[in-house]
Amino acid sequence: MTEAINTEVLQPDSSGLARAAELIRRRQLVAFPTETVYGLGGNAKDDRAVARIFEAKERPSFNPLIVHMPSLAAARQVAVFDADAEALARAFWPGPLSLVLPIREDAALAPLVSAGLPTVALRVPDHPVAQALLEAAGVPIAAPSANPSGRISPTRPDHVLAGLSGRIAAVVDGGPCSVGLESTIIAPGNPPRLLRPGGLPTDAVAACLGRPVLNGTSGDEITSPGQMRSHYAPGASVRLGAIEARPGEVMLGFGDVSGDINLSPTGDLTEAAANLFHALRQLDRTGKPIAVAPVPLHGLGIAINDRLSRAAAPRP
Ligand code: TXA
Ligand code: MG
Repeated sequence: MTEAINTEVLQPDSSGLARAAELIRRRQLVAFPTETVYGLGGNAKDDRAVARIFEAKERPSFNPLIVHMPSLAAARQVAVFDADAEALARAFWPGPLSLVLPIREDAALAPLVSAGLPTVALRVPDHPVAQALLEAAGVPIAAPSANPSGRISPTRPDHVLAGLSGRIAAVVDGGPCSVGLESTIIAPGNPPRLLRPGGLPTDAVAACLGRPVLNGTSGDEITSPGQMRSHYAPGASVRLGAIEARPGEVMLGFGDVSGDINLSPTGDLTEAAANLFHALRQLDRTGKPIAVAPVPLHGLGIAINDRLSRAAAPRP
């Protein structure tokens, strides 16, 4: 890693966005808000910028990144959309859905962004600041979650600074993220496959396509870092399915199961998703082991349980 840099905190106004866009065009890294989590953005057409993303996150390997586009029309310039991909994009973009699609020959994306694969993960984010930055930068922006590899994803600007201050050029302050979980990743095809559960319930994808979506990769595809077992890990241990805290534990509640923090006292899964990563960070600051109440396995609960089980998995 190169020497520490002074990370600028930019406001999401015209001068802040102009500065952020200028930094992106100069191959620098800018963290920015999306509706899912904060992304660590770099120019997706520039291998040097993309390499810096891996360097800043200390990602163990060159896994492919999600490329953010301003619109479906722009996305069609870099990837091939079949009828299913068109249907999903029309139904759910802008929004928390990433589609893995064949790269067009004339796409001019940096090879590193897709780790040399013939496919690329694309997403049109539903956040005014992300949209404004994409427009101002004028290039597709590659962006994984803006946290050091393996740690909890950031849903607020102070989370980004806690992990990456001094390692990135800037963060644009857009307040808390509304969804709070990374995007759902789908590879359209026969059958369509779910590569990562996320902010869009998989049921909604299946309903749109009119057929079931299979879990996971077919085996010959890459597995994602989001699919590594220990991920989103707090410093302390995590115990799932808890009804109450044991001595010495702090408790993350849900619904009627109360705790030091409750993800959603009314049992609302959307609210719970939005609160999840911030709550884990707050409990982690106590330095105590964390007990977590059961969260139902339907709708967004599937992605919430996915992230919780990774937080609880044995560390490498
Ligand atoms: O919500 C999100 O998706 C956030 C925000 C910032 O947009 N981004 C995010 O990106 O989570 P990232 O890079 O952390 O996750 C990208 C995931 C990885 O698990 C990667 O392996 C998978 O997408 N992926 C990317 N390209 C792929 C490809 N060609 N084939 C299969 N999986 C791919
Ligand atoms: Mg991540």
